[in-house]
Amino acid sequence: MLKTLDPQLVAFRDDVLSGLAAPIPAIPARWLYDHRGSELFDEITRLPSYYPTRTETAIFHEIMPEVAARVPKGAVVVEFGAGSQTKTPILIEAISPAAYVPVDISGDYLEQSARDLQERFPKIEVIPVVADFTKPFTLPGGVEHLPKLGFFPGSTIGNFVPWSGTDLLRHFRNLLGVGAQLLIGMDRVKPVDRLIAAYDDPEGVTAQFTLNLLTRINRELDGDIPVEAFRHEARWNDILSRIEIHLVATRDVSFTISDRSFSLSKGSSIHAENSHKYGQRGGRVLLLAGGWTPLVEWTDPAGDFAEILSVAEPERFAP
Ligand code: TRP
Repeated sequence: MLKTLDPQLVAFRDDVLSGLAAPIPAIPARWLYDHRGSELFDEITRLPSYYPTRTETAIFHEIMPEVAARVPKGAVVVEFGAGSQTKTPILIEAISPAAYVPVDISGDYLEQSARDLQERFPKIEVIPVVADFTKPFTLPGGVEHLPKLGFFPGSTIGNFVPWSGTDLLRHFRNLLGVGAQLLIGMDRVKPVDRLIAAYDDPEGVTAQFTLNLLTRINRELDGDIPVEAFRHEARWNDILSRIEIHLVATRDVSFTISDRSFSLSKGSSIHAENSHKYGQRGGRVLLLAGGWTPLVEWTDPAGDFAEILSVAEPERFAP
């Protein structure tokens, strides 16, 4: 009973119980990242068929002199997410900010990665903030007057449907203020076979990653889901321009979670993630709709992944 007082656990249970009761069963993707999930995701980023991490890292190595030339010295970098061991240091090294503020819902991982970064860059003030970056929160005291650079790599914006992605971009704008810049990574539309291979690798690591969600539910929410009755499936939804990750029931299944009963018929699925892919212009329109004016866009030579630097301009009502 005590366990249920943990706010994270309460939020997880609420999301799972309401998500599975919905007409289209779905569970928010952030619950994929427990300890095991984070390890498996790390493995995904190194798979031959998962191109995004490798490609974005290569882009960073190329573009940092140009980014540094456009970002004011002594800025504060606000990263939405805990930061990656490889990508974040490339940015920090290049622009020498005064402060770095990683914002993440998972306190443990955040503290650890913040400590590592602080050790590597002793002169920069590293101030981790434990918060859900999709909800309002305040920046730590002392950084208000510094120039601001929002940092949102990894195509995480693609994990939001454009409606909530636009809300998120506006929320970043409100948080960082007029004049702030945003460096954002977006994955591009590309041939379907490559997209599917990135989300359903031959090694089966991604399948383990998504199925781990069911194991986590069983463990943390007192569930008895027969995990072996589900399989991982990556689908390309062309009209919505996104990869969808589904956990498909391979037979009729019934189970309970926290004393609530659920059943799924064979072939139906639990929707576990979306990963929207943007074309060159579509990505920029999304930014504009969220209050960010694109300044420069860079890609890898093949055009697989894009990095866009934008600015929050004052509102203008003129045509
Ligand atoms: N959200 C990331 C992406 O869209 C991470 C990811 C990779 C992922 N593979 C996944 C999320 C499989 C869920 C399922 O690329």
